[in-house]
Amino acid sequence: MARKAPPENPFPAGTIVTGDDFADRQDEVALLRDELRQGGRVFLLAYRRFGKSCLIHETLRQLEAKDHALTAYVDLYRANSERELWELFANALLAASRSPLKRLLEWATGFARGFRPRFSIDPQTQQPVLTLDAPRSPAELADVREWALELPPKLAQKRERPVVVAFDEFQEIRAFDGVRLEKTLRAAFQSHRGVGYLFAGSKPHLLREMAQEGHAFYRFGRLMELAPVTEEQWAPYLTARFRTGSVDVAPAVVRAIVAGAEGIPYYVMRLCRALWSRGVRAGSLSEDDVRDVFSELVAEGDQLFAEAWDALTLAQRRTLAAVAEGRGHDVFAERVRTAYELGPSSTVARSLGRLQELSFVAREAAQARGGVRYRIVDPLLRAWVLRGRPPVTGGERRTQGAQESTPRRRARKTGRQR
Ligand SMILES: Nc1ncnc2c1ncn2[C@@H]1O[C@H](COP(=O)(O)OP(=O)(O)OP(=O)(O)O)[C@@H](O)[C@H]1O
Ligand SMILES: [Mg+2]
Repeated sequence: MARKAPPENPFPAGTIVTGDDFADRQDEVALLRDELRQGGRVFLLAYRRFGKSCLIHETLRQLEAKDHALTAYVDLYRANSERELWELFANALLAASRSPLKRLLEWATGFARGFRPRFSIDPQTQQPVLTLDAPRSPAELADVREWALELPPKLAQKRERPVVVAFDEFQEIRAFDGVRLEKTLRAAFQSHRGVGYLFAGSKPHLLREMAQEGHAFYRFGRLMELAPVTEEQWAPYLTARFRTGSVDVAPAVVRAIVAGAEGIPYYVMRLCRALWSRGVRAGSLSEDDVRDVFSELVAEGDQLFAEAWDALTLAQRRTLAAVAEGRGHDVFAERVRTAYELGPSSTVARSLGRLQELSFVAREAAQARGGVRYRIVDPLLRAWVLRGRPPVTGGERRTQGAQESTPRRRARKTGRQR
């Protein structure tokens, strides 16, 4: 008898997911759609792996399908210079226009001043692809910039449809020409009618700064901070997906998955993806399975985490450990600094600054306590830091989330100290 093929793993991890694969976040999509189709501007702030890029793609998909908008997605991580940024920007907008090729090229070339855009045709998509030569002077780059920045409003006018441009990892713009470019962009975007702009980034402290008083994007749009997805929101999605492989997951198991992954989409999906074959074999999953598989993921990350740990100073390591052990809300308190040998507050502030730059630590408003709270961004890194750490003396015991108590060989080798 022919064996039935095992059911396909329904948990995509690490790719862009939209449509049916996209879990919840309906409120966020609705809000973004509403704002952007009316030519609004939104700053979307979220730490790594919270699902920004998926949310952007899903929002653009719905804007096209339901609001007849023309949408362009520009990922700043793909641009290594300002010239490359304008290439990406122009190509995304030309692709969005979906106009007959010849007319599109005539139109786009028609308002270029000081340079002549060169296009080739992508044989697969039949789309025009713009290639810009390296600019020989700032004036030449300025011509290109001016031309590119006219594309969105001119397109909106020509096609009589809303245009929406989404920049992913927008904070990277600062690497090119710093403040000057930011100011130029603000001035241009501000004059664009019928064009919505989304500025997303995974370094919230940088994006927030760009939108602060005294900076180029002050009062330019609303700030939207993406939170993890709650257990109630995950439950129907996860249960239904496990059911496609006849895998029973009790509410307590869903809770364990979401708690381990801290509700962060990437980690939830990774954990579920890794749990899948176990579940299909056994017909159900237990909390022990979740704990085992989570530990396996932490172990998989060992080399990367150890390299990152090696690159930190002792003061930064101690601060990271204190945050891992749940001291993120009172890390500046004297008893915590003493218990964890953190030194003066100025040293803690410097360490936290560096850990934020590295995207290891997030700084957030603490809801209950009214102050701020620091949190390790990656739940796997947090578990890795906690592994094998003896409880801290001085009255501050580990609070939660300790994964294992086996001492780690690597920790000794890297000379970890508390
Ligand atoms: N709404 C969602 N439903 C299901 N899975 C999701 C959702 N959002 C994100 N994911 C999962 O999380 C992964 C990471 O999502 P995404 O790339 O959108 O995050 P990001 O915030 O842009 O991350 P990065 O900061 O690394 O760019 C996706 O590959 C997918 O597996
Ligand atoms: Mg992303």
